[in-house]
Amino acid sequence: MPESKTITLSQSQFEKLRKIIYDRSGIHFPDSKKYVLESRLGRRLEELELGDYDQYVQFLSMGPYMDDEFQEMFNKITINETSFFRNEPQLDVFERHTLPALLEARGGVKRLRIWSAACSSGEEPYTLAMIVHRALGLRLMDWKIEILGTDISERVLTEAQGGRYTDYSMRSTNPLTKSRYFKQDGPYWNIDPVIKSMVNFDLHNLKDRISAKRYGVWDVIFCRNVMIYFDDAMKEQVVNSFAGQLPGDGWLFIGHSETLRGMNTPFIQVDHAQGFCYQKGAVEAGGAKAYGAQPGTLGSGTGRPGLKLS
Ligand SMILES: C[S@@+](CC[C@H](N)C(=O)[O-])C[C@H]1O[C@@H](n2cnc3c(N)ncnc32)[C@H](O)[C@@H]1O
Repeated sequence: MPESKTITLSQSQFEKLRKIIYDRSGIHFPDSKKYVLESRLGRRLEELELGDYDQYVQFLSMGPYMDDEFQEMFNKITINETSFFRNEPQLDVFERHTLPALLEARGGVKRLRIWSAACSSGEEPYTLAMIVHRALGLRLMDWKIEILGTDISERVLTEAQGGRYTDYSMRSTNPLTKSRYFKQDGPYWNIDPVIKSMVNFDLHNLKDRISAKRYGVWDVIFCRNVMIYFDDAMKEQVVNSFAGQLPGDGWLFIGHSETLRGMNTPFIQVDHAQGFCYQKGAVEAGGAKAYGAQPGTLGSGTGRPGLKLS
């Protein structure tokens, strides 16, 4: 590809651009990340034959192609780093504690709903499908398992739907799991059709709280390694909207280096030896009640430590 000639992004153009990105998606670009926008969007301006970023800001602010251009832009500016079995200790918490508790609690209705919010190219929701698959074994056919992966970028969702991966995505996948759930095809790894059929994908912007309601209530929400790109106000908004979509015994997993501490949310942190997850403080059924938590006694929102479990 020919080198893109650099179109300079001035500080005032950067400030306008980051405001419209933030207003649309909640993604916050600090000054230190100005170069990311400049390097990723330069070629786009050339494609559109725009001479400078003022014209691009205008293009994003009005006109019939505005929504399409936002999508083009999110395809370019989002960081989509992910892998299968990313941060295994945290997935161990899900596999050893959360999932068995939920399978027992939902044993009557035999329905389980898991949302991987900001799923990138699908490695996370497919990993969760593999974990559920190996936990249920032959009982899988008695259950209605719904796993949804959503993201703001259409490009990564297209990759997710393809279910075809390179070694890079498999760097944390052990050989047994590889042979059980993938078929190698030259340099690619194709995901097993059963696992593929357990997961659906949809375009969803976490900024859009109203449209999130169309998904209804989940038993578990994974929202890992995306809130680092949000500011505190957006994080709080997203997490509180998750709270409205989880029952009292539902669970929230955020990235292992992320925290809800200091934020005003109803979640309490539940610590296990391998990692932590969150549950709402309001005790409605099973879950936290079984662990002995009382509403309002332990809250990450207060900065106090969470429940400690083995
Ligand atoms: C670093 S990846 C994390 C993927 C996966 N959750 C994991 O932990 O491996 C972050 C993803 O968040 C998505 N994202 C960023 N802002 C978003 C928003 N406002 N709504 C939905 N997805 C968003 C990006 O497109 C990207 O694919």
